[in-house]
This record gives sequence, C-alpha cells and structure tokens, in this order.
Amino acid sequence: MDVDDVETVAVLGAGNMGHGIAEVAALAGFDVTLRDINEEFVQNGYNQIEWSLDKLAEKDQISEEDADAALDRVTPVVPVADAVAEADLVIEAVPEKMDIKKDVYAEVEEHAPDRAVFASNTSSLSITELSEVTDREERFCGMHFFNPPVRMQLVEVISGAHTSAGTMDLVEAVAERMGKTPVRVRKDSPGFIVNRVLVPLMNEAAWLVHEGEATVESVDSTTKYEMGLPMGSFELADQVGIDVGVHVLEYMHEVLGDAYEPCPLLTEKVEDEHLGKKTGKGFYDYE
Ligand code: CAA
Repeated sequence: MDVDDVETVAVLGAGNMGHGIAEVAALAGFDVTLRDINEEFVQNGYNQIEWSLDKLAEKDQISEEDADAALDRVTPVVPVADAVAEADLVIEAVPEKMDIKKDVYAEVEEHAPDRAVFASNTSSLSITELSEVTDREERFCGMHFFNPPVRMQLVEVISGAHTSAGTMDLVEAVAERMGKTPVRVRKDSPGFIVNRVLVPLMNEAAWLVHEGEATVESVDSTTKYEMGLPMGSFELADQVGIDVGVHVLEYMHEVLGDAYEPCPLLTEKVEDEHLGKKTGKGFYDYE
C-alpha cells in the first residue's frame, strides 16, 4: 500500500494521546474513526478535539474552515468492528498495559480488512510481542507520538522483529503527510529512544525530591531555565500523565533492571489518582 491509498485511519483510545492523534490525522485530510470503550470516553475525546481545533483557529494557526472540516472528518464510535471496518491504518493508543493492548489487537484482527496496517502508539512496550497476537506481523510497527500530538513535531516509527520495510516506509510517509518528522527506531527495546532518555530524567528528579535533596520547584526551574527544556521535569510528568511515566518505568524496570525502579513519589501520586493535568492535580494544581 502507498500513502495515497490511505484514506481511513482508525484511532483506538480517545484519551490524551488518542484524541490528539485523531485530530492530527483529521487535519491531514484522513477520514478518522475515534474509538473508546464507552460513549462517555469517546465523547470526551471528541470534545477535546473540538476544543483544540477552536484554540488553533482562534490563534490563526489554522482557518475556521479547516477546523470545521477536520472535525467533520472525525466519527466517534464504540464498537471495535465499526471503528476498523474500513480502516487502511489502525493506530492504537489504549492504556499502556501489555494485556489490554493484546486483547484489543486480538479483537481488531477479527474485524479489520486484510490490507490494513497496524501501528501502536505504545511508549515503551515490545512491538514484536504485540504484533505476534495478530496475523500480520509484517504489517505492524510502532508509531509513537508525543504529548500534545498537535504541537509536537516528532514521531518515532519503530520496527518490530517481523516488520517489513514497506510498512516502515508507509507509516513514515503517513507521519510526513501529518506534517510530522518521523525518526526510525531500528531496535524494539523498552522506551525506544525518547522515553529511554526522558522517563529516567523524570524518575531521577522524583528521587531527588523524595530523598529531600531538592524541591519540585527548584528541580523544575533548573530543567527549564538552566537546561533549556520547554518544561520542568515535574511539569512534563503532569503533562504526559504520571501514570504513563510509571507504566513506562515499570516495564523498563522489569526488562532492563533496577536502575529504572519507579520512585515512590511517582507511584504514590498514581495511587492517589493525582495523575497530572488530566485529573486536575499532579505535582501542580490545574483547577
Ligand atoms: N491544542 C491546542 N492548543 C493547546 C493544546 C492543544 N492540544 N495544548 C495546549 N494548548 C494551548 C494552551 O491552552 C495555551 O493556550 P493559551 O495561550 O490560550 O493559554 C497554549 O497552547 C500554550 O502554548 P504556548 O505556545 O504558549 O506554550 P509553549 O510554547 O510553552 O508550548 C508546549 C507548549 C508545546 C506543550 C511546550 O511547552 C512543550 O514543548 N513542552 C514539552 C512537551 C514534551 O516534551 N512532550 C513530550 C512528552 S514525552 C511523551 O509524550 C512520550 C511518552 O510516551 C511519555
């Protein structure tokens, strides 16, 4: 399949990443189905796309017409079969748990057309292992966007052990059609490139505070003003979702060893459901 043959993109998961990916795909002119497990979650994702498109139009980053046309191209659905029936490309952005993702792929495999390529937005999990749940390992790769997808330029395109060169070329071309810069990741290792670097930074910052060496504010001002990153480590954790960071760390800890043990400061936030911006409270308050 060539990029010009891709008309319909199914995005599975309407959360922080899923709704942003659906928005980016719709802005690029693809027909998009946005799927989640119930009406409330899908509608929430759809509303966030509407909010974001309005914001972009307000700031003249896109025209009102383009915002309306993009929203019109998004169809919110709940049944997986309806979401993927016409899909040329399925981008999965469900919670970062191997078992959940495998269950979703098993169901999607039953309903998606044979031609469809599957791409996972996983932040860290093995593309090879996920692909082996399906009958199309060679048409399966990672397509990892960054939060917020509509603002972040980079997309990691990750090859699993069975991914064909044609699949990598196609998904990179789709990322370019979306106005993104794809970076090819040749080795399917935990955290790929970005999270292997970024998530330990968040974790180390958390250990510093946990051990009483620094405060959240002092760490953030050094990352932001001295290291020149756009956000402090804790601001970034709140933006990404502290639960997402912890899931990545847990997987890296399991596969790569003790250096990646999640700091209790992070795991306690998850236990308290203070997950960052999406719950209104994380290391900072957003209400
Ligand atoms: N759509 C539209 N507008 C949005 C938006 C969205 N999705 N998200 C935020 N905005 C708006 C805000 O509401 C705000 O609007 P107002 O000015 O009206 O209040 C505005 O954007 C803020 O934008 P600015 O240009 O003023 O802010 P900025 O230049 O600081 O840019 C940023 C914001 C692009 C998020 C920047 O801070 C940044 O690059 N942060 C780092 C993000 C990052 O590293 N993400 C990757 C995380 S890792 C990851 O995602 C991978 C993983 O697997 C864990």
